[in-house]
Amino acid sequence: MATTICFANQKGGVAKTTSCVNTAFALAEAGRRVLVVDMDPQTNATQGLGVQTSEGHPTVIDLLRALAKDRPEDPAAAVVAAGPVDVLPGSVELFGSDSEFTDLGKEHMLSEVLAPLRASYDYVLIDTPPNLGWNVVNALTATDLVVIPSSPTYWSNEAIVKLQRTIATVRRYSNPRIEVAGVLVTDAEQRTTSAKANIGLVQRIADKCGIEAFDVVIPHAVAVRDSVDAGRPLLARSPLSKPAIAYRMFAEEIERKVA
Ligand SMILES: Nc1ncnc2c1ncn2[C@@H]1O[C@H](COP(=O)(O)OP(=O)(O)O)[C@@H](O)[C@H]1O
Ligand SMILES: [Mg+2]
Repeated sequence: MATTICFANQKGGVAKTTSCVNTAFALAEAGRRVLVVDMDPQTNATQGLGVQTSEGHPTVIDLLRALAKDRPEDPAAAVVAAGPVDVLPGSVELFGSDSEFTDLGKEHMLSEVLAPLRASYDYVLIDTPPNLGWNVVNALTATDLVVIPSSPTYWSNEAIVKLQRTIATVRRYSNPRIEVAGVLVTDAEQRTTSAKANIGLVQRIADKCGIEAFDVVIPHAVAVRDSVDAGRPLLARSPLSKPAIAYRMFAEEIERKVA
């Protein structure tokens, strides 16, 4: 049965998508069966894995709509292979989900959609958009663990505290098994004293919130942006770059946590 891990932080540009996609690749390299679920209407994870869904191919929004009509569809039919991992593609139409899905039990819809897939994977990794709306609440309700990617800036504090409140609400009302796996410091410049101080700051914020910070810190490197421009995960394009090696170490930390 898959362990589900949601990458969440309502702040944009903190490497949620980068972390989700490359952790997926790292886990697949280690021989795990991995599914990436893209709950962001910007569909960066889908695109970052080089997947272009053709007109007519079902995406996660079609599965959610079918469920809303009480006619659930087989989610496996929407899954696309992207090299060593599988993807349940996202859709720009997820932009409207806050107003589209309003029935009782609406927080549980993604969890229900994913249920038939859980037996086929070791890990289901969910990428989320930078807000705390329906898409994120559904991802949090469907997940076992939350990873909070956080780039080391002064403003990380507010985001982590607010997300932790949302997770507490989700635990109370829709997903009692949810656990925060930890804060992952990403895109970290380590050259200047102030940059190093910010890494320490994020680690202290996590500590104050009673959340662990992962041992591994993902370093900043231009190779990451280059891989986005090339539409390929960093682990495929620059497998020996420092952040690629760090994401492999992160995947090992995750596996130790799950074991
Ligand atoms: N370790 C890193 N080094 C350099 N650039 C990075 C790194 N991690 C992320 N980025 C860049 O930061 C931007 C935001 O990353 P992304 O994963 O899209 O964040 P989010 O999904 O949280 O919005 C992207 O342009 C990405 O290429
Ligand atoms: Mg993203």
